[in-house]
Amino acid sequence: MKIIGIETSCDETAVCLIEASGTFGADFRFKVLGNALLSQIAVHAPYGGVFPNLARREHTRNLVPLLDQVFEQAHSPRGLTSGVNLSRLSKILEREPELFERLQLFLDTHARPDIDAIAVTHGPGLEPALWVGVNFAKALSLAWDVPIVPVNHLEGHIAMAAMEIRQGEQHSNILENVGMSGALYSFEFPAIALLISGGHTELDLVERWPAFKTIGETRDDAVGEAFDKVARMMGLPYPGGPEISRLAARARIIADQTQIVADRNLRKSASNLRTSASLPRPMIHDLNFDFSFSGLKTAVLRLITDRTLTEEEKLALAREFEEAAADVIVHKTIRAVEEYGAQTVLVGGGVSANAHIKSHLKKALDEIGIALLYPPAGFETDNALMIALAGYFHAANKEFTDPATLHANGNLRLGLFNI
Ligand code: KG4
Ligand code: ZN
Repeated sequence: MKIIGIETSCDETAVCLIEASGTFGADFRFKVLGNALLSQIAVHAPYGGVFPNLARREHTRNLVPLLDQVFEQAHSPRGLTSGVNLSRLSKILEREPELFERLQLFLDTHARPDIDAIAVTHGPGLEPALWVGVNFAKALSLAWDVPIVPVNHLEGHIAMAAMEIRQGEQHSNILENVGMSGALYSFEFPAIALLISGGHTELDLVERWPAFKTIGETRDDAVGEAFDKVARMMGLPYPGGPEISRLAARARIIADQTQIVADRNLRKSASNLRTSASLPRPMIHDLNFDFSFSGLKTAVLRLITDRTLTEEEKLALAREFEEAAADVIVHKTIRAVEEYGAQTVLVGGGVSANAHIKSHLKKALDEIGIALLYPPAGFETDNALMIALAGYFHAANKEFTDPATLHANGNLRLGLFNI
């Protein structure tokens, strides 16, 4: 089956075409036929965060060029998609007139593709941004007469963690992954899914695929959001997660290489800042699976208010913040594994790109003999491959939706339609 994935939930516009076969097990195989992504980081960076209406505008502009790129990569035939009901098409895209114009031109130059289903993220995320992808999927469904599978963005992140690349290199540049193929890792249920991103921090019990039960979540900020906010307070660019982890890694290298001197300096700067292991680990000992990161952020704010940090102090603070976040995440995940007798941990979301959290988690899970699965490098953050993959398993079961009743849901939760 050939299935196209569309992702517009936040600040990445992405389209991916895969060919896949089998069930959620050893017989599953996929191949990437076309894959394109445009990040809006540069657009939002001056504002220090994602602006929903700006994201919406960018998705509207970018979707057709990305689809074009994917078709080019997949050698989809040029020609004309005839017989499209243009008045129905313009009605579907009445709130995205620019997208309608571009799509009309595209349909005039591309033949109806050999595609069996369209998978689209319908939540959670920024609702104005989600709507663009959902309406685009509806328009393509009408033009090509192909059914739609709505996909939960979080399910996409979890599916991505379960995928093993078998052929073709994985590149951090997502455009270079055309031709890459893969399968599912062999792993056992029950699994615990750990979702750590800019919008979510949650633990889910996965009893089988795709049956999810959320067992804990953040009560305030998501961990990625806390990374971004702390980075902003420290004068670092958006998105802050990679910036903080870069500084923290440097602090560790300095500490390792010139141990005595660096240790003394770091300890000095830490005590200047009153941060020698002094940031809180919120809710770490609470007997539940919930998180809270806004207190951690406020603790950083209290430390740095009314002072200019030296480079050394920035390194020490980044390291301590990253370690505080990692400690809580690892502790709660292990508790969930033990409570539910999980055999596997699947990690997803942008913060899974954080090397420190990953190595801590790996060490803790190795000690108790539990498997840890992470997305392939470059596929931690939002992309459309994960949506095509998660959508495939629903499409294989013919779980299609009526386009007339499909809508975006910014607060969509895992499990709502799955159990
Ligand atoms: O999954 P994602 O692309 O978008 C959401 O669905 O939120 O995650 C983006 C988040 C941002 O908050 C970003 O700062 C964070 O992932 N992130 C990181 C790292 N790389 C990305 N956080 C910590 N360490 C990283 N290396
Ligand atoms: Zn995401």
